[in-house]
Amino acid sequence: MLGVVVLISGSGSNLRALLDATNNPLYPVRVLAVGADQACSGLEHAELFGIPTFVISPENFGSREAWAETLLETVNRFRPDLTVLAGFMKILPHGFVRALSPKLINTHPSLLPLFPGAHGVRDALAAGATETGVTIHIVDEGVDTGPKLAQAKLAILPDETEHELHERIKVIERQLLVSVVKDIAEHRIKLDTSK
Ligand code: GRF
Repeated sequence: MLGVVVLISGSGSNLRALLDATNNPLYPVRVLAVGADQACSGLEHAELFGIPTFVISPENFGSREAWAETLLETVNRFRPDLTVLAGFMKILPHGFVRALSPKLINTHPSLLPLFPGAHGVRDALAAGATETGVTIHIVDEGVDTGPKLAQAKLAILPDETEHELHERIKVIERQLLVSVVKDIAEHRIKLDTSK
């Protein structure tokens, strides 16, 4: 069983997909806790599954480093084998990344290295891209720059809005996340930063 802590900032539909997958006893993953940087609706999914939650907001700390130190201590209290950033919208300081990587992965709604950052869907549309997708990668000290574990593509439809496209990306994103975390648990994907 792979024990996972999930960090979120928003609606938590990727988290929900992971939690739903754990309903199957053959899915080799257990969500140990769910954390967020702000109160958000996604935490309700964890509560529904009886999983501990925590909110650690940067506003309550004097510096990003102090915030991240408390976040790290809290994550580590659950002794995860893997920490998953699933729509966690804060950039984590290097100390946090160094402490957990490569057992720290992120899901991002673009085909990295294209369109990193907070507006991956908007930026793909603005660039006139004809396809985009999702990337799951190990978190390193850059923004969306770490070694890729898996990608899935989809065609951008004519006149599609950012919201419509993001919703379609999230459908394949949830499937890919569930499958990548399973592959990590079953050692088909090795968390190795040397690639
Ligand atoms: C996902 O597309 C994630 O990649 C992006 O924000 C979205 C979060 O969705 N950074 P949700 O909170 O899992 O519904």
